[in-house]
Amino acid sequence: MSHKAIYVQPGGGYDKVQVGTCEAPAPQAGEITVRLRANSLNYHDFAVVSGMWGPAEPRIPMADGAGEVVAVGAGVSEFAVGDAVVSTFFPDWLDGAPLIEGFATVPGDGIDGYAREQVTARATSFTHAPKGWSHAEAATLTTAGLTAWRALMADDALKPGDTVLVQGTGGVSIFALQFAKLAGATVIATSSSDAKLERLKALGADHLINYRTTPAWGEQVRSLTHNRGVDHVIEVGGPATLEQSMIAARIGGHISLIGILTGVAGQLPLVQALVRQLRLQGVLVGSRAQQQAMVRAIDANGLRPVIDKHFGLEQIADAFRYQETNQHFGKIVLDI
Ligand SMILES: NC(=O)c1ccc[n+]([C@@H]2O[C@H](COP(=O)([O-])OP(=O)(O)OC[C@H]3O[C@@H](n4cnc5c(N)ncnc54)[C@H](OP(=O)(O)O)[C@@H]3O)[C@@H](O)[C@H]2O)c1
Repeated sequence: MSHKAIYVQPGGGYDKVQVGTCEAPAPQAGEITVRLRANSLNYHDFAVVSGMWGPAEPRIPMADGAGEVVAVGAGVSEFAVGDAVVSTFFPDWLDGAPLIEGFATVPGDGIDGYAREQVTARATSFTHAPKGWSHAEAATLTTAGLTAWRALMADDALKPGDTVLVQGTGGVSIFALQFAKLAGATVIATSSSDAKLERLKALGADHLINYRTTPAWGEQVRSLTHNRGVDHVIEVGGPATLEQSMIAARIGGHISLIGILTGVAGQLPLVQALVRQLRLQGVLVGSRAQQQAMVRAIDANGLRPVIDKHFGLEQIADAFRYQETNQHFGKIVLDI
């Protein structure tokens, strides 16, 4: 039986997005079949679909997929039919230190992703979803949720009383704000919009800075922290924000290099990093074990993700056009 799927033709671009079909064969040993119900959008998926980093061959896009298990292959004991599951960004990085460079093994980029109704894959391509979450909510975790979790809880060991700086109101930063509050940290949040800053406050942000009207926001962060600086920066801006992030960090502070929203190259103010003995840590999402740890933490605390807007699967190009406007606050999802 065939199932609906979205394909991005070689090179990418919204005019190269087509609706087609795919097969989902009965699961072999170690595999499960999942009826996908939702995807969530990330900047990386945008790069694939829009043609910025278009695929070399026809590709089913979207790294983040959530749905329910409809069949289980021999030897799979972790999942049963009916379980709610969410995909993993690196189906081959199960645990331990980072193993994989780049996107060759990532669903929706190097291999087919989850913009489709049904998939058969290795059971390790999924974990359980948080209890009681909708499929759309669960689909927010694979990329944005896990990146924020890994940065704060695996690469660092955030503790009550630490101070975290988050930038803007995209998916990664809002999850970082939520996880930091869960850990008892103080959060300083930035945005280009005063209206969005008010919404960050409602989510628990302790201090707010408009980075448009306060371009030297690093100094503002220092002043808010009595000149100490923050313990951890969730750096999603890239070249145009890194210098301010270095000013904002405490001596020996941790900067998670996550995003490239302002470009992919720039000048590194090395002296700042050296004299203040900063830890700059590149991040590429996380392992399956880290995703399981994140889901455990969510189950224990009742946290819910922030979903800005829903689109249908076939409206995928409209959804990415909307993401490009930066109007969103949190995650954009596709319902399948
Ligand atoms: N390394 C990884 O593993 C990993 C994983 C996920 C994402 N990322 C990257 O992280 C970045 C954010 O991803 P996302 O999914 O959270 O994106 P997103 O949801 O598209 O975030 C967009 C938001 O970022 C904020 N922003 C834009 N320019 C900014 C700037 N100069 N300073 C501060 N904030 C700025 C804006 O917030 P306001 O409207 O509030 O100003 C904007 O609405 C992207 O570059 C993405 O590729 C990396």
